[in-house]
Amino acid sequence: MANTLLIYGSLTGNTEGVAYNVQSMLREKGKEIDVKNAIDADIADLTGSYSNYIFACSTWDDGLPVSDFNDFLERISSSQPSLAGKKIAMIGLGDSNYVHFCGAISVMEQAFIAKMGGEKIIEPLRIDGYPEMEENKTHVQEWVEKLAPLIN
Ligand SMILES: Cc1cc2nc3c(=O)[nH]c(=O)nc-3n(C[C@H](O)[C@H](O)[C@H](O)COP(=O)(O)O)c2cc1C
Repeated sequence: MANTLLIYGSLTGNTEGVAYNVQSMLREKGKEIDVKNAIDADIADLTGSYSNYIFACSTWDDGLPVSDFNDFLERISSSQPSLAGKKIAMIGLGDSNYVHFCGAISVMEQAFIAKMGGEKIIEPLRIDGYPEMEENKTHVQEWVEKLAPLIN
């Protein structure tokens, strides 16, 4: 059974693509990882047996998480789940031409680390522009290289 769950929110598919790339890169390194769209995610996904979580989310609307992910955060906020003892990694997609570049990362840090008590095990990955750009592909690869040994 997978030990890691990646939950992503994506409007035009950029974050979704990165989510599945990260899954296949981690699988190549022998890690079992499930991927779920935030539309389908709920409180039960955070209270199950996963040890590690990767949250991936694009930023829209002046620094806010993409709406599907925002809705997920609202669904779980009333239940105040604890992520104590869980390892957390975060991926943000955005565009540095906007004032609040990857603002969703701050919102996720507030929710999953500050409020729910998860352990941030790696600096969040921030992707500036299209993930298909060579430099962004390299950033993802380098980040996954660092992340893989940190999760069991
Ligand atoms: C109308 C609009 C607003 C955006 N606002 C932001 C923003 O505030 N901060 C940011 O970093 N990126 C912003 N972006 C860039 C998107 O986050 C970026 O295109 C991202 O790759 C989209 O990923 P997705 O397809 O997974 O939703 C915006 C893009 C558009 C078109």
